[in-house]
Amino acid sequence: MYKLIRRILFAFDPEKVHYFSMNMLRMLCKIPLLKLLFKKIVAPKNNHPVTFFNLTFSNRIGIGAGFDKNARYLTELETIGFGFVEIGTVTPKAQEGNEKPRLFRLQKDKALINRMGFNNEGAEKIAKRLANWRKRNIDSKMIIGGNIGKNKSTPNEEAWKDYEICFNLLHDYVDYFVVNVSSPNTPGLRELQEKNSLLNIFTVLQAANRIKKLPKPILLKISPDLSHQQINDIIELTTEINIDGLIVSNTTINRENLRTSAEKINNIGAGGLSGFPLQKISTEMLDYVYKKTNGGLVLIGSGGIFNGAEAMEKIKAGASLIQIWTGFIYEGPSIVKKINKHLS
Ligand SMILES: Cc1cc2nc3c(=O)[nH]c(=O)nc-3n(C[C@H](O)[C@H](O)[C@H](O)COP(=O)(O)O)c2cc1C
Repeated sequence: MYKLIRRILFAFDPEKVHYFSMNMLRMLCKIPLLKLLFKKIVAPKNNHPVTFFNLTFSNRIGIGAGFDKNARYLTELETIGFGFVEIGTVTPKAQEGNEKPRLFRLQKDKALINRMGFNNEGAEKIAKRLANWRKRNIDSKMIIGGNIGKNKSTPNEEAWKDYEICFNLLHDYVDYFVVNVSSPNTPGLRELQEKNSLLNIFTVLQAANRIKKLPKPILLKISPDLSHQQINDIIELTTEINIDGLIVSNTTINRENLRTSAEKINNIGAGGLSGFPLQKISTEMLDYVYKKTNGGLVLIGSGGIFNGAEAMEKIKAGASLIQIWTGFIYEGPSIVKKINKHLS
């Protein structure tokens, strides 16, 4: 059924289709009977809750950051059955992001290239929306993560201020935080993965966290393009300062071994590649980090998961939780149910 829907959806601009589909889903979820029916069809039947950093996830499957940047579709994503949703990347000030088009499908590779550039409505507005949603959904068990970043106009030396602003504004409404320094679409951002910059950002966030009534776990999302030396530096850092976990990984700038023609790839231009071509490198990185840390960190596996077997690969490589994004676009909403069935 989804294959047919996908054929139609894939005939249109990827970014427009994304919002169109989610808005359609929102309309459907407003009609209780249709919502129930949809839930019955797509949502997992038997969840096996898991607990990490004192948070209970109804299942291990989350939607990755960038899918619901502004926390607009929480009800719809909960209806589909995600155990957790990571909103953002949120920046202090609202920003438009890069010029369109900025999202491209590579169908032959089951992949996407995006250079969105942190388009979002800004931390204050998003915090208000989250507060309202929390008020209206007190019974919800879905875990919400807040993925935070810096504005394009903020120089790297002052980046810590942006992370701190987002952290304080969102703190009451999210269950965990992710420091995103690994998106390839904000110039210079990935330089913040260097040890001193991370030390700076995490020291500030942990100080802010300590004085909150309910401190929240803070994770770091890393790029699959880091060298082993850079990963080792980050792992060393996790022993010096408190980093609760790592998301492995963000999108890659690598364009090797693609089936899509070189001409098409060239025409698309810069951006982060996600989906199937990212699967192997992100799983290898996960495996490397897991072994280096002796399983001492909570790891979230992200990159190229399309089915239960591939989710299991991430778990075998050391992931406690997994996130999907491109797989959702290619496989449709029942992907959560299918993966959940396989994992249980
Ligand atoms: C269109 C698009 C936008 C994204 N935006 C963000 C973002 O704002 N912040 C972030 O940390 N990751 C972002 N990501 C990366 C995903 O969260 C995920 O880590 C990556 O796509 C790898 O997973 P996948 O292969 O399942 O897509 C984005 C990915 C896509 C495709």
